[in-house]
Order: sequence, then structure tokens, then C-alpha cells
Amino acid sequence: MHIVHVAVEMAPIAKVGGLGDVVTSLSRAVQDMNHNVDIILPKYDCLKYNNVKDLQFHKSYSWGGTEIKVWLGKVEGLSVYFLEPQNGLFWVGCIYGRANDAERFGFFCHAALEFLLQSGFHPDIIHCHDWSSAPVSWLFKEHYVHYGLSKARVVFTIHNLEFGANLIGKAMEYSDKATTVSPTYSQEVSRHPCVAPHLYKFHGILNGIDPDIWDPYNDKFIPISYTSENVVEGKRASKEVLQKKVGLKVADMPLVGIITRLTHQKGIHLIKHAIWRTLERNGQVVLLGSAPDPRIQNEFVHLANQLHSTHNDRARLCLTYDEPLSHLIYAGADFILVPSIFEPCGLTQLTAMRYGSIPTVRKTGGLYDTVFDVDHDKERAEANGLEPNGFNFDGADAPGVDYALDRALSAWYDGREWFNSLCKRVMEQDWSWNRPALDYLELYHAARK
Ligand code: ADP
Ligand code: GLC
Repeated sequence: MHIVHVAVEMAPIAKVGGLGDVVTSLSRAVQDMNHNVDIILPKYDCLKYNNVKDLQFHKSYSWGGTEIKVWLGKVEGLSVYFLEPQNGLFWVGCIYGRANDAERFGFFCHAALEFLLQSGFHPDIIHCHDWSSAPVSWLFKEHYVHYGLSKARVVFTIHNLEFGANLIGKAMEYSDKATTVSPTYSQEVSRHPCVAPHLYKFHGILNGIDPDIWDPYNDKFIPISYTSENVVEGKRASKEVLQKKVGLKVADMPLVGIITRLTHQKGIHLIKHAIWRTLERNGQVVLLGSAPDPRIQNEFVHLANQLHSTHNDRARLCLTYDEPLSHLIYAGADFILVPSIFEPCGLTQLTAMRYGSIPTVRKTGGLYDTVFDVDHDKERAEANGLEPNGFNFDGADAPGVDYALDRALSAWYDGREWFNSLCKRVMEQDWSWNRPALDYLELYHAARK
């Protein structure tokens, strides 16, 4: 099959959140299963060009009153066509955040279909993502379905229903198949007016992570290679380097890591509470987070200053986006805390497990589907062919977080041998795309029937 993704994010060259990871990792998994996958992306001026190989001019065409230059390059082994409208729509120094984002991406979607048509491509599947490439679904049905692209079917994936509901609703209507990124989130949103009329073609398929991109055995950002066989040694060395790097006391203490966009979705009040609770319980905390909203950013700057004077050796807030540091935290932390209010899938809990860190999460969306509490979820884990792998909690207030966090920290302090065996066990669980990519292929086939 030939699958073309039209997307506005792609890790690691244009990543804002998990959507970018998924575009790259799902594509790689499907390509590894011997299908032909291409990606069409805007050519932003802020692309991380050092991660694009063999970038070369491919062609140019006129559309929408401007010339569009197309560049072809390789990213993580995938062919990417970069569209560069010469009217400068993507020369604005950022991916999102402009008043005319919807218009810019709408233009990009239409230009992508025009590129496919003019280049004589005959994809089987055109896969678009969230509000930003939602227009592909109806532009295709309105303008292209009768022409050279006629055999294509459109698959639309909701990564987050909070943004762009109107665009998402319209894409749900026009796409041949629709998905979201975990079974539980698919149920949580099933009554939403954008989703409810389309349940017959809507599926929850869990995201995976790319085991080569996230691999503690082969990770240039961590001090030693490790697998589940030497997880204790690997994590000890990583913790020490992490503590030194962010300026915490080098000590044998449980370390809670938090890697997140700082937005309402991620449970801001629970994150703040958990930081203080961890300190009370004699742990260390490293938070890596960036807040698109300046008010939230200021709140965390304030908190960082406060912690600087009270707990400088045990808490560090790194209020930025930093890919290399994220790798070191996944490896050096004992726990990765994800107290999201809602979470369509969540990738940080999966990456945590790949690095032998224990996910400590709120039971919602994909967090519910992937983290099984060591004290409560044995049966539910077994039903998924797994053993329990973390700590979780209900509710959206302090006692909930305390319940999970206190048990996590006690397990570290009171049962090191058991805790180490848990780290080994979570590393051995398979959260790659092996299974979900097959589900996508089945869905692609079903879309073509
Ligand atoms: P979302 O897409 O809602 O932000 P996910 O858990 O799906 O949440 O994906 C977040 C991705 O972004 C993960 O790969 C995580 O490691 C990464 N990430 C989040 N915040 C940061 C940060 N401040 N620095 C580096 N990477 C980050
Ligand atoms: C969104 C969701 C997140 C999900 C990611 C990738 O950003 O917030 O839960 O993991 O998309 O699908």
C-alpha cells in the first residue's frame, strides 16, 4: 500500500508534542512492514535542518496565487516532501501561534493535495491529523476525488479533541475512517457532538513509541548503555549525571521526573502539589516543561524561585523545551509522574517504561490503558497480557496524587529489591508500534473496501 501522511508536525525536525512523535514513529513502523510511506510537511524556516538528510530541490508548481517550491529529504529513514509557498506563509519562526494558523494550514492542506495530483501520485491512503490537517478530508472529497487521486481513501486521526472542534467535526464527517489514539479516550469522547454521529467508522488505536529512537542501549544523551539486564547500574549512572547537570545534590534518593507541556490538560495544580509532596517525603524532583501560556509560565517561574530558596538541592524546574535533557530524565528518574486531567494517549509514560522508570499517573484516557497499578490492577493487566507496571490514582485533587505518590516513594524506600525488579519488568514490556501498526494496516485495508 502507498500511504501519504499530511501533517504539520514531525519529530524530531518539527515537534511540538506527541503528534510529531506519532507521525514519525507510526510511519516508520508501517514502512518497516514493507509499505510505501511518504510525508508531506510545510517547509518551516524553523525546521531542525541538521536532522534532515539529502535535502534537495524536487520541483515547483503554481497554486493559490503563489509559486510553491517542493523539497525532498530523508528524516529518520522516511521520505518527506517539504512544501514551501513563496508567499512566506511558513517563514514566521514558529509552527503554531499565529493569528492565521487555521488559514496557513488550510492553504498547506490544499497545496498538498494539489502536489499529489500534479505529481501523478496515486496513494491508497491519505492520512491526516487533528485540526491542523483536517481540511485534507473535505478538500479531497470536494475537489480531488474525481481526478487522478480517485482511488485514495482518507483516514483522519484525532490526537486531541480540545483544539479545533469545528474542523475536527467536519473531518469526522468527510473521512472514510477515523481514529483516536487510545481505546479509553475513544469512549470518553464518544458522546461529543463531533464524534457521536460517526461512531460506526471511529476506532481507538493505542499509540506506540519508536524503540529505536527511544533506546537506552543506544542513546547518545545518556552516560551508559543499558538494557533490562543492567537497568540498576544504567539508571544509577544516569541519575548521577542528571543530578549534576541540573545542580541537585548527588544522593541516593528517589527522583520523580515530570516531562510535559505545562497546560491545563496536564494537571497543573496536581503537578505543583506533587512537587511539594515529593519533597516532604524525602525525594527529589526534576521538572522539564514549557508553558505556551505566559501566565502559567510565570506561575512556574515563581515556584522555581521559591524552591530555589527552600529546596535548592532537591528540586529543579527547567522551564524550557529540551530534547536531550528529556532523554536524561527518562533514564535518570525513578518515577515519571503524569497527573493529566485528560490524556488522549500520552507518550511520556510509555517512554518512561522503555527507560525503566515507573509511571505514576492519573487514570484517564491512554494512561488508563497503559499503566496498571501494582496494588490494584493485576487482573486488568493480565487481561492485556501484562503484569502490573506502575502506580495510578483517581480524582483530580491532592489526596489522589498523594495516594499514588506515597505508595511509589515507599516502594522505593522500603523494598529496593522489589522496586528494582519492577524497573526490569517495565523495561521488558513492549510499547512499540508492533501491535498498533497492524491495527492501522487493518483499518487502511478496511477503508479501501
Ligand atoms: P502531548 O502531545 O499532549 O504534549 P505526549 O505525552 O503525547 O503529550 O507527548 C509529549 C512529547 O513531547 C513526548 O515525546 C515528550 O518527551 C515531549 N516533551 C514534552 N515536553 C517536553 C519538554 N519540555 N522538553 C522536551 N520534550 C518534551
Ligand atoms: C496529543 C495528546 C496526547 C497524545 C498525542 C499523540 O498531543 O495530548 O495524549 O499522546 O497527541 O497522539
